Amino acid sequence: MLLQTLTTLNYRNLAPATLHFPAGVSAVWGPNGAGKTNLLEAVYLALTGLSDVTRLEQLILQGEREAYVRADLWQGGSLSVLEVGLGRGRRTLKADGVRVRGQELPRGSAVWIRPEDSELVYGAPSVRRAYLDELLSRISARYGQQLSRYERTVAQRNAALKAGEDWAMPIWEETLAKLGSEIMDVRRRAVIRLAELAFEANAALGSSKPLKLGLSETTTPETFRADFTRRAAEERARGSTVIGPHRDDLSLTLGDFPAGEYASRGEARTIALSLRKAEFELLHERFGEMPLLLIDDFSAELDPSRRAFLLSLAASVPQAIVTGTEKAPGAALSFRAESGIFAPEQNSAPEQSSTPEQATKHTALEQVGG
Ligand SMILES: Nc1ncnc2c1ncn2[C@@H]1O[C@H](COP(=O)(O)OP(=O)(O)O)[C@@H](O)[C@H]1O
Ligand SMILES: [Mg+2]
Repeated sequence: MLLQTLTTLNYRNLAPATLHFPAGVSAVWGPNGAGKTNLLEAVYLALTGLSDVTRLEQLILQGEREAYVRADLWQGGSLSVLEVGLGRGRRTLKADGVRVRGQELPRGSAVWIRPEDSELVYGAPSVRRAYLDELLSRISARYGQQLSRYERTVAQRNAALKAGEDWAMPIWEETLAKLGSEIMDVRRRAVIRLAELAFEANAALGSSKPLKLGLSETTTPETFRADFTRRAAEERARGSTVIGPHRDDLSLTLGDFPAGEYASRGEARTIALSLRKAEFELLHERFGEMPLLLIDDFSAELDPSRRAFLLSLAASVPQAIVTGTEKAPGAALSFRAESGIFAPEQNSAPEQSSTPEQATKHTALEQVGG
């Protein structure tokens, strides 16, 4: 996976431009508020169709009605053009000129590492569920479809519970137990591999305590129907479905303790970084191509071992974009960011062109912690 160019128009504070990215590491550096995070967000959106803003309008330059992002991406030996059009409450995706849905984009194309990732440890279960569900939806389009059907059904059953429609319950429960069990099954299988990868990354980051990942489940495929019966009174009183994968958690244990309650700030960052590394590896295993790595604000990472891990991870993959208030070392090209303008710098190493041939050189480099 190699990003060749990114074009933006009216995207947040980014000046309209086409940026050319080389293979290897691109360093994007400049003061706070320059638009570095916005740039990575635009790349991630164009490649995956994903964005975590609550309203799409937030992505459009204030005072404008529409925004546009285009990425020219090498994947599987050919160049694709991915386009995103943004309007009020509306998002249009195109691949090579044809309208597509998110599921049809190259799902393993990018991984984004951010300072806010500590929320994966400290945040509510919904944050970890979103991490897991987003990853599994990218790995399996079917999982994404099952999950949205399941979530719609939960909403419908909740409405029926509130309306006291007891007669409708058996139908909703049968559908939920069926879809829910399939979702749990995929999660259980994926978490086994994810746990191995995160354990390894956590150890490679120098942590002396083992990291354990598991699922904290509110029911099981075997007891789903019986649990509905057992908790019928509670569910009716609350008007909501209290068991099922929409209530489950990805549990994180460091050493002997639940990480969310006991991990220090530094340990939480290490765990979050391990989860992102595991995500990267899982996508690589699934799609056979390494995702583009986006590292936001490496300079916010003050711990020397995590900083070294981030930088050597960036250096070990075919392509990475690393932002910071200082310039990431070892970059093939650097961009100076200021007020939404990204100026390629003259006196850096000679520019490489992003062709797959160039990339093989980098994939051959040693993997961190491998
Ligand atoms: N829709 C928008 N229209 C115009 N400016 C925006 C929009 N969304 C965010 N910004 C501006 O972008 C800047 C933040 O950019 P950001 O990428 O977070 O900077 P940093 O370089 O620190 O990562 C802020 O000044 C913010 O006001
Ligand atoms: Mg930022």
